[in-house]
Amino acid sequence: MKSILVTGAAGFIGSNFVELALSKGHKVVGYDALTYAGHLETLEPFKNNPGFTFVKGNILDQELFLKTLKEHQIDWVAHFAAESHVDKSISGPGAFIETNINGTFSLLSASRAYFESLSGSKKEGFRFLHVSTDEVFGELGPTGKFSETTPYAPNSPYSASKAGSDLLVRAWHHTYGLPTLITNCSNNYGPRQFPEKLIPHMIFCALQGKPLPVYGKGENIRDWIHVKDHSRGILQALEGGKSGETYCFGGNSERKNIEVVHALCRVLNELRPRSGGAKYEELITFVTDRPGHDFRYAIDDSKAQRELGYVHEFKSFEIGLRATVEWYLSNLDWSQKVTSKPGVKVSYDWSLVAKG
Ligand code: NAD
Ligand code: DAU
Repeated sequence: MKSILVTGAAGFIGSNFVELALSKGHKVVGYDALTYAGHLETLEPFKNNPGFTFVKGNILDQELFLKTLKEHQIDWVAHFAAESHVDKSISGPGAFIETNINGTFSLLSASRAYFESLSGSKKEGFRFLHVSTDEVFGELGPTGKFSETTPYAPNSPYSASKAGSDLLVRAWHHTYGLPTLITNCSNNYGPRQFPEKLIPHMIFCALQGKPLPVYGKGENIRDWIHVKDHSRGILQALEGGKSGETYCFGGNSERKNIEVVHALCRVLNELRPRSGGAKYEELITFVTDRPGHDFRYAIDDSKAQRELGYVHEFKSFEIGLRATVEWYLSNLDWSQKVTSKPGVKVSYDWSLVAKG
């Protein structure tokens, strides 16, 4: 049993990782500033779990972070907190530089001070795992895959800020001997994803009977991984990863965006048919493309399979997607609560959603 400090615990992947870590008997301290993307409602399932503690804190607050590390005698840091939405980074890059780069610098500084105060097996076992993205590698053409040896070539303010944070982590390992791990993962989907991202956004546009906005021609390709598979990979990296190493995780499920939207429409036609026999596909609308839109991402995760014993438990994207739609349909109140707060840009007409 370890004491794990999870930054970004009230967000999408962080909360799924918390769920997994608690189920394995670890003690978890969730650390989150509760931005527009992080919500106490997301932590509702764990709030009465005796193994879980929540600290409301900003990753830029080095003092509070160091205090939390000491108070809870932390063994492992799993760093998820970030500004994570590419479209937002295009309209307002400043917050991405501040949180993703300066925030990671602040955590590295506090973690180094804490690490240096440790001794013996506690020091030997300490890990700082930085959760990053495949977007740091840039974009692929029609063939090939990213792996741990692909050179960095980030294209958006988001991916550039994540690349900057990855490089800081690398330097803290090389210069100060901080025992770090970096994971680079492809597009996650599953429960509790904030409804600004493709899959939940399309679900709520569809349920309102509003256009499904597909950027460009919908030809861009993403490699979709279920968030529970990603969470398992991160835990395996903490348990068995080699200090200073990077591990890539993917879903082995490349799909064009338009294919994802069609697959979603098929599931919704079955689970929540529209009135009058209309099909959700009729709502698909091609809209102006994202500036600098990366064409294709795909991950070769054979290193994680070989060295960590990582396996995908979701055998197909379509199985995971159906389970995800079912989760959103059964948890409409969660989506309503998290999108109805001040400062949230996405807004849905919940009376239309409820009518279907
Ligand atoms: P998210 O936007 O759902 O959650 C981010 C969380 O971080 C929120 O709870 C937010 O409140 C918190 N946060 C933001 N700024 C903070 C700050 N300054 N201090 C403390 N907390 C702060 O993001 P996500 O999709 O769960 O992504 C988590 C991590 O995984 C990110 O680092 C992201 O780059 C990476 N990642 C995401 C994906 C994906 O497909 N979503 C894929 C690969 C990697
Ligand atoms: O690849 C990993 C990355 O995946 C993570 O690092 C990011 O945090 C995460 O947000 C995600 O980035 P994307 O930009 O790929 O995700 P998003 O859900 O925003 O978009 C997925 C694809 O769908 C992308 O090609 C843009 C397109 N899209 C998105 C939205 C929101 C649309 O066509 N219409 C939309 O309304």
